[in-house]
Amino acid sequence: MKFFNNMSIENETLQLNNHSVTDLASTYGTPLYVIDGDYIKDQCKKLKQSFKHKSLETEILYASKAFSSKAMYGLVEEMDLALDVVSGGELYTAQASNFPMQRVYFHGNNKSIKEIDMALKAGVHRIVVDNLMELEYINSLNQHVNILIRINPGIEAHTHEYIQTANDDSKFGISFESYDLTKAIQCCIESETINLMGFHCHIGSQIHEASSFEKAAAVMLDQIKLLEHKYQLNVTELNLGGGFGVYYSKDQPITDFGFLTDLLNQCYGYINKHQLNIKKMMIEPGRLLVANAGSTIYEIGFTKTTISGKNYMFVDGGMTDNIRPALYQAEYEACVGNKMTHENETLYTVAGKCCESGDILIKDILLPTVEKGDLLVVASTGAYNYSMASHYNRIPKAAVVMIENQTARTVIKRETYEDLIRFDC
Ligand code: LLP
Repeated sequence: MKFFNNMSIENETLQLNNHSVTDLASTYGTPLYVIDGDYIKDQCKKLKQSFKHKSLETEILYASKAFSSKAMYGLVEEMDLALDVVSGGELYTAQASNFPMQRVYFHGNNKSIKEIDMALKAGVHRIVVDNLMELEYINSLNQHVNILIRINPGIEAHTHEYIQTANDDSKFGISFESYDLTKAIQCCIESETINLMGFHCHIGSQIHEASSFEKAAAVMLDQIKLLEHKYQLNVTELNLGGGFGVYYSKDQPITDFGFLTDLLNQCYGYINKHQLNIKKMMIEPGRLLVANAGSTIYEIGFTKTTISGKNYMFVDGGMTDNIRPALYQAEYEACVGNKMTHENETLYTVAGKCCESGDILIKDILLPTVEKGDLLVVASTGAYNYSMASHYNRIPKAAVVMIENQTARTVIKRETYEDLIRFDC
């Protein structure tokens, strides 16, 4: 298993940011998500260093769908990043964390009327408009709103089809060639209340090829030039979205933030060449900031060997706390946190406790031979794990502990059985 954030070994026990996994498990219970807050802050700093330019204003938005919680929003605020929210719930969490609304961008392809009203009342910085109907609704409100329009640049990214977002039939954004875009721009020009600040695109998630982002940027800037010329627009902002891939398991590269500096330089080249008015460039990573900061500690329960010789190791969580292997065939690395110096000698399939054959967290992983009560630690679970957790089989959601400045604290409580029936009538 690759050691990522502040991981180390003491005696034979894995330490997560100087806290032993055995202590964490006995204090907070299992399954337990552990988030290394110091690592996230480090990532934010590095990202800010890489995504800056002497002639352009830059802003990094944390795509909070990756892991949304008051504690996380607090870190984002402390690191002076902006925030991407996609629902009333994420916006409410931002408000509850006193996150400054002048750094909040409101996304979503089907924002409800209630959510739009909530966002306008809250005074979010920008609404990122997904489609023509949404724009017409916002225009009908007769309130001053600064918007970006989400474009589908038609770039095919090399990633799982469920997390591609910019092929021609995607549900997100408006294509440059579409008549809806013409109507949307006309609507903005005629509107006395809508201020079109710029455009947005997001081509997908867990993308490792810098070339895909470069292609998207080139398409966006070329098309913005055409639109400026055709409609005499004054486009000052461009948001290139998120989707930057991270390491989960072997064969995947570790993201070198240097490519973001190159991307920005490339954009500046285009902006100059096309004499565009773009003053501000944005990106909105989610996973890149939190995935490798998170680990999940499970207690190992029973083991079983099938008639054909497959060794199952069962853990006390599964697809309810990490749906990604079942949904995207995502691969994870893991270790036995209390047997770090033991030899990896048994081939296991790690399965969860849900009534679903697809509830497999890891297929075929070589680990020390385990006993009931040992701890399995799965790495890189910081993004899209807690935020996609479910109550399938009425399993309560696990707790989240954040370790920062040497101190561990619960940032999301473990659910109880009473919590599960709270809304049953
Ligand atoms: N911006 C927009 C408009 C997005 O739709 C997304 C992700 C992001 C930014 C952040 O993408 P990131 O940097 O985290 O890749 N549940 C899937 C990922 C779905 C991502 C949806 N949108 C997974 O677990 O892989």
